[in-house]
Amino acid sequence: MHRRFIVPSALAASLLLAIPASAAEGTAGAPGIGDPYYPASGNGGYDVSHYDLRLKYQPATDLLEGTATILATTTQELSRFDLDFGLDVSEVRVNGKKAEYARSGDQELEITPAAALAKGKAVSVVVRYAGKPSELKINGWTSWARTPDGAVAAQEPDSAVWWFPSNDHPLDKATYDISVSVPDGTQAISNGVLQSQSSKLGWTRFNWRAGKPQATYLTTLAIGRFDITTDTTSDGLPVVNAYSKDLGANGGAARASIERTTEVAEWLTEVFGPYPFDALGGYSPNVKSGFALETQTRPFYSPKQFANGANVSVVVHELAHQWYGDSVSVKGWKDIWINEGFARYSQWLWSEKEGEGTAQELADYTYAQHPADDAFWTVKPGDPGPDNQFDAAVYDRGALAIQALRNKVGDETFFELLKGWPAEHAYGNASVADFVTYAERVSGRPLADFFDTWLYQPTRPQAPAAAAAHS
Ligand code: ARG
Ligand code: ZN
Repeated sequence: MHRRFIVPSALAASLLLAIPASAAEGTAGAPGIGDPYYPASGNGGYDVSHYDLRLKYQPATDLLEGTATILATTTQELSRFDLDFGLDVSEVRVNGKKAEYARSGDQELEITPAAALAKGKAVSVVVRYAGKPSELKINGWTSWARTPDGAVAAQEPDSAVWWFPSNDHPLDKATYDISVSVPDGTQAISNGVLQSQSSKLGWTRFNWRAGKPQATYLTTLAIGRFDITTDTTSDGLPVVNAYSKDLGANGGAARASIERTTEVAEWLTEVFGPYPFDALGGYSPNVKSGFALETQTRPFYSPKQFANGANVSVVVHELAHQWYGDSVSVKGWKDIWINEGFARYSQWLWSEKEGEGTAQELADYTYAQHPADDAFWTVKPGDPGPDNQFDAAVYDRGALAIQALRNKVGDETFFELLKGWPAEHAYGNASVADFVTYAERVSGRPLADFFDTWLYQPTRPQAPAAAAAHS
């Protein structure tokens, strides 16, 4: 661009900042997908359909080497676009041709193809990379957990940036082929179906396929020495469970819990409708952390979950997420109640079925545990903020809200709501606001004030009393 008039230099500089330096820069994809909780998460300008990851991991050194091939469609003209990724990159190709790339911040890989990409076109991106994910700090930490015999990638809301380049937000789901080579005697566990495994030159390669749309944070990888059990459900789906050989005293309880996966999924199918994926399972690696995560088709369970004996309840929670969270995913991270409120409530339903206390009894108990002045009530489950995304209130007040809804609309409508939601939004994304609209439509009742009280006010609502049922 040529300027035909002279301006003072400070003003000129600010104009240069405000006006794109070239037409090309005007068509750069946004560095974030637009989630106010995590502005850097995801990117603009394209939609990924498939990730093909071909990886090699050496537990002794934590060196991860790989090539990612990403298939996407552009949603705008793109002179440049970002992937979310932290490891060192040695080559990027776009549609087969070498592309320029640069770093911006901890987790943005800016890619400039040889020529701008037109809108609405298929694009392939190949990224070659290597690095030690345990040494890679993004936002000051690494979610990659090394174990004595391997490593685990399982975290929420992000884990992908430490091990593969992606459009790292639940709004952009894709299918995956994940092929991982590890030293003989070590296994690699991931999502979906194990297509094949083979060994040569001292390395064993595991080829996993996740054939249904999957969010990046639900994509998992665990390397280590595992005992693996396999089975087939009565519907013909493969079940693969994996237990670290190093679970110590928790090993029996881990197996006694995770081996209940098929039974729990069958029961959840009665409550939520058809199981949405093509494989089942769970894995427990020898990590030190204490949490569990609904990694798609194959949840992750820290051994600490089984420190007191079998914990089928956590299996219920993570499997409930396969419908509420994995098949139907959040539109933005503020919608986390859709995941955690319903997963917690499913644990109450399991207790009710097992004769260990009805959901109403558990709601009464939970409510009574938090007096009106408890800070618990200041967290709004419908918009908790990034720091409180996994606060107890999102889970427990979230489940109280669901019991209150059950009492308000009655069991028949309530269970219709529970089953209809995963059917209506299968493999998609939905928000808390979408749920409110949906519940009003299905129940034929105005519920906006009700949900406002339960999900958006920083104060304790009235107890969800059973007496209110059918009123
Ligand atoms: N969605 C997970 C669950 O089902 C929560 C994981 C939270 N992350 C963590 N590091 N605690 O409970
Ligand atoms: Zn959960």
